[in-house]
Amino acid sequence: DAVQGAVVFHKVSFAYEEGRNTLKEISFKAKPGETIAIIGPTGAGKTSLIQLLSRFYDTSEGTITLDGRDIRTIRRESLRSHMAFVLQDSFLFEGTIRDNIRYGKLDATDSQVEEAAKLANAHSFIMRLSGGYDRVLIADGSGISQGQRQLIAIARAILKDPAILVLDEATSSIDTVSEIKIQEGLKRLMEGRTSFVIAHRLNTIREADRILVLKEGCLVEQGPHEELLGKQGLYSDLYHG
Ligand code: GTP
Ligand code: MG
Repeated sequence: DAVQGAVVFHKVSFAYEEGRNTLKEISFKAKPGETIAIIGPTGAGKTSLIQLLSRFYDTSEGTITLDGRDIRTIRRESLRSHMAFVLQDSFLFEGTIRDNIRYGKLDATDSQVEEAAKLANAHSFIMRLSGGYDRVLIADGSGISQGQRQLIAIARAILKDPAILVLDEATSSIDTVSEIKIQEGLKRLMEGRTSFVIAHRLNTIREADRILVLKEGCLVEQGPHEELLGKQGLYSDLYHG
């Protein structure tokens, strides 16, 4: 059963602690392949929202559906097999680079691993490392740069080939060359997948099919860039600084 990647939030509320809603009646739709940018001040609920998608937590009220199916009726493992997460601090384990990428699809061949790394723009830096794909990483990833860690995480996600992608853009500064490589890799990764991006880069936000503007747990505005600018509300204020 192939997953198309249509996601609908219907009046979703969520509370970490009873009586204090962190997310309040959030409703929006993502069609298969769309890019949804999520923005808003710190503590607004951006991370909480994407955690509901993978059933890391379940909603307190309202429903989330994937291709029309309530995600609470889908086993967590099964749900997560259709998703890849590229987070600010993507998890690498102690093992070779090859195995770290292969974690996206455990039965992948060496050539599939390398193909994914090429699409992610990771291949050239890996080939320049002593040991190449057999280079052993230590768990905290030291020995390679933060940008290189992200390229490995992107390769892993490309190999997994999920219908849904969740991306938390880095805020920390990465050198320009790595940044360009990462953006190119991410572009390939996002193609044809429903993507939820906690966005910090103006380009990502402007190019998204829809922007969700969160404030104190409420979805205060949603729409594409031009439309939101026209509303002259919170988005317009944030955009014009
Ligand atoms: P930034 O990542 O800082 O930009 O914020 P965010 O928009 O991702 O906010 P997040 O979803 O992490 O938090 C929303 C609210 O939930 C904040 O008031 C947090 O303090 C609170 N919160 C986040 N995680 C937890 C948790 O594990 N337990 C409890 N009790 N509250 C939490
Ligand atoms: Mg967050």
